[in-house]
Formats: sequence, C-alpha cells, structure tokens
Amino acid sequence: MLSTKVLAPSKQLARSLASLGGVRSKHTVPDLPYDYSELEPVISAKIMQLHHDKHHATYVANLNVAEEKLAEAQAKNDVAAQVALQGALRFNGGGHVNHSIFWQNLIGEKNGGGQLHDGALKTAIEQQFGSLQTLSANVNGKTAGIMGSGWGWLTLNNATGKLDVITTANQDMPSSVGHVPLLGIDAWEHAYYLDYNNVKVDYFKNIWRVINWKDVAKRYDDAVAAYSASKN
Ligand SMILES: [Fe+2]
Repeated sequence: MLSTKVLAPSKQLARSLASLGGVRSKHTVPDLPYDYSELEPVISAKIMQLHHDKHHATYVANLNVAEEKLAEAQAKNDVAAQVALQGALRFNGGGHVNHSIFWQNLIGEKNGGGQLHDGALKTAIEQQFGSLQTLSANVNGKTAGIMGSGWGWLTLNNATGKLDVITTANQDMPSSVGHVPLLGIDAWEHAYYLDYNNVKVDYFKNIWRVINWKDVAKRYDDAVAAYSASKN
C-alpha cells in the first residue's frame, strides 16, 4: 500500500506554517503591526488594506480549505485526492507564509524605515555586495526580471551560509530551494499597481525607504545561528 505520509505538505512548508500557528489548526491572517497608512507615501493605505485584508486573507481561507480536504483524503487513504491538493497547498501556504514575512519586513520612514544600522547584517552586506545601494540594485534588477508574478528575496543560502539574492515564481517560498528568507519584495501587481500603475521600477526603487532593517537583521542573526548549529 502506498504511504500517505509522503503526500503531506513539504517539510519546509509544514515547518513554516507551523511557525504561524500549526498545520492542523485553522490559520488566521496576522494583524498588521502598524496602521494601513504607515508606509505612505511609498505604499498607500488603500493598497495595504486590500493587500492585507483581501489578498492575504484569501490565501489563508484557501489554505484552510485545502488542509481540510487533505485531512479528509488522508482519512480515506485517497492518494489521488491528496496528490491533487499539493498545488493548492503550495500556492496558498506560500502566499500565507510570504506575506506574513513581508508585513514584518516593512515600517514607515518616520519609525526607522530604510535605516540599516551597524551590526552583523550590515557588515555581511558590505563584504559581499560592497554597499546597501549595490545590494538594492541587485535585488531590484533580478526582481524586475520576473516573468509574471513572484517575489524578490534577500536570503541566507543554506548551502553556503552567505547572503544571496534570488527570485521565486508565484508564491513559492525560498525554503523550497534551500534558502532562509530575510527580506521579501512582493512583485505581484496587487502590491503596487494602484499607486504606480505600470511603472513597477519606481515601486522597487521606493520600497527601500520603508524596509524594517531591524526585522531583517534579526532574521539574519537567527539564520546564521541555525546555519552554524547545523554544521556542528
Ligand atoms: Fe502580495
């Protein structure tokens, strides 16, 4: 008989979802850590309200439905039904995880947005990329090159223990390709179109003004510690 265990969500997705509230419990949309208008004028309150309350909420609702169906299929040992659900789990689970990181990655300019202070992350950026400006140009160039929808990421590469810049398609997560997400840039049209129309390069340029580098630096410290522990 075929094992049903291999058909559960991937280990990376399961771990990421568990950190957000558990695979078996209903997922919920996390509150924004600030008001809808926090990121203006870089990102309008209107976009933030729609993006958080509608788009993110839809990923969460569809993830909960997919998990319920998965549990039913597992109970019936219906392998075909479990296989058919993998796409919905990957897409909606990734959408939930990625957006939950994105909200934390941002903060208004008046509250420190865009300010990268001295520390391990700043040192690593300068050693690997030369400067924050060079890094942002690297991220923006790769992110602008995404065909269709996706995300640009600053990550810690689990193969090297170093910073890396990658993109993922649709709602795929960096963990699915062996990277720890530190900073995500949502390159879906829903993230910028109301403010920037078709000029997405201006969105990519401006978003660096509202990056919460304290959050990114904390993720970097945690990722480096986990990488070091895995090598011992
Ligand atoms: Fe989004």
